[in-house]
Amino acid sequence: MELAAELVGVTKRFGPVLANDGVDLAVARGEVHAVVGENGAGKSTLMSVLYGLHRPDSGHVLRAGQRIRLRSPADAIRHGLGMVHQRFRLFPDLTVAENVVIGAEPVTAGRLDRAAAHRAVTDLSDRYGLRADPSARVGTLPVGVRQRVEILRALHRRAEVLILDEPTAVLTPGEADRLFEVLRTVAATGVAILLVTHKLTEVLAASDRVTVLRQGRVTGRFTTAGTDADELVHAMIGRSLTPPAPRRLARPDGAPALGVQDLTVRDGDDVPRLTAVSFAVRPGEIVGIAGVAGSGQRELIDAVTGLRPPGESGRILLDGLPVRQGRDPRVAYVPEDRHGRATAPELSLAEDLLMGAQHRLARGRFGLPSAAVRARARDLSERFAISAASVDIPISALSGGNAQKAVLARELTRESRVIVVEEPSQGVDVGVRERVHALLIEARDRGTAVLLQSSELAELRELADRILVLFEGRLVAEFTPDATEARLGQAMTGVLP
Ligand SMILES: Nc1ncnc2c1ncn2[C@@H]1O[C@H](COP(=O)(O)OP(=O)(O)O)[C@@H](O)[C@H]1O
Ligand SMILES: [Mg+2]
Repeated sequence: MELAAELVGVTKRFGPVLANDGVDLAVARGEVHAVVGENGAGKSTLMSVLYGLHRPDSGHVLRAGQRIRLRSPADAIRHGLGMVHQRFRLFPDLTVAENVVIGAEPVTAGRLDRAAAHRAVTDLSDRYGLRADPSARVGTLPVGVRQRVEILRALHRRAEVLILDEPTAVLTPGEADRLFEVLRTVAATGVAILLVTHKLTEVLAASDRVTVLRQGRVTGRFTTAGTDADELVHAMIGRSLTPPAPRRLARPDGAPALGVQDLTVRDGDDVPRLTAVSFAVRPGEIVGIAGVAGSGQRELIDAVTGLRPPGESGRILLDGLPVRQGRDPRVAYVPEDRHGRATAPELSLAEDLLMGAQHRLARGRFGLPSAAVRARARDLSERFAISAASVDIPISALSGGNAQKAVLARELTRESRVIVVEEPSQGVDVGVRERVHALLIEARDRGTAVLLQSSELAELRELADRILVLFEGRLVAEFTPDATEARLGQAMTGVLP
């Protein structure tokens, strides 16, 4: 095995945070090497050290066996290292070809040789199956294609070590599979690939070897063929996932907390998005909503949370009373778009966690004592395992998983009658997912009515007590959670049971 690059004893601190703690990692020519770990495990920091973006406090980097000094990404590029960032670093006004060759332009008589640039892109595209129109302006391209441009740029600079930090976060599942094929092709030419991810399915599908990080340290090294999801999870979170407890059945009790009656919603073009949808959720049960994307889930949830009026004939009732328009405080809501709808970016974590609960801490006319607000935030952070350097950091600085836990902490502690949750484990890792599921079951068992929308059938079957299927805006079927995914899938595509 010929080593392309090695990180040796890398330690990196950010103030009190030990992001990398004596990490050794070696990547060989021609392999796809996955680097996995939960959010905050230190993956991005380690890759930034390798790419010259961070200087380690101790430790060093070897390239093809030689110790190298990396003071900047320019040094890294000179040593044959390339990186595809989570946030792309492309020039939107330039073409694909210009972006690919930038910094290493073919020059003829002192000027950029456009024809040569185009040819270079076409050659690389063909060779690696990375399709991109060389003359398209990058700013007009979808993210999947922009990512290809970043990869093409690294290949054009003849990167021999290619680092990709969570590359599939911006891709659809189909695009992710295509990317993995490309990585295979690139690796087959001898390039060493470091694939950073927190998704185990990707590790198992796309890598040759795996290094696992937890809290800044290496907790496992495996060959992919010789490991499995259980072993990787154990290394990632320090324990196995608790096997799903024998399902405790819901004991729904009493009159519906949420009633949806004859809901019909039309869009701006008068096309029906929901047609005569009626159902009820009782206290103490989780009702799941399944459907292919765009089947009316968005409109349904907007109506239930009071974010849109219930249409011409419909009614949304909370404990028998119409939902209030705007945002009804009796409904807790965990939206899919955690950093958009869910949180106010200008607030600190402590302030965000307070929203909707001000009355409980209000003290007379002097408003909110900030010590109490912060103490409450620290308490919630602990209970919900939110890892943040401090409760005073802006909510927008939290990672996806931690932002999700913060929104759940805020919404689940509102003691509302009804909780509406969209995609509870999208973008979070396995440990967080398990925790979020437990919290939802707890809320259910306290007598909350839960409406759960998820695009993951496995999640619906694990959590929901009943699953309703939306197809083209109509409720077409209701299942118990033991229904097979095949049956659910048929109902979701309009093949009725
Ligand atoms: N620039 C930075 N300043 C302060 N803390 C940071 C910085 N970058 C990362 N951290 C902290 O270092 C730890 C590891 O972060 P990171 O390497 O981004 O993890 P991962 O990529 O595995 O999610 C986290 O606790 C994170 O908050
Ligand atoms: Mg990261």
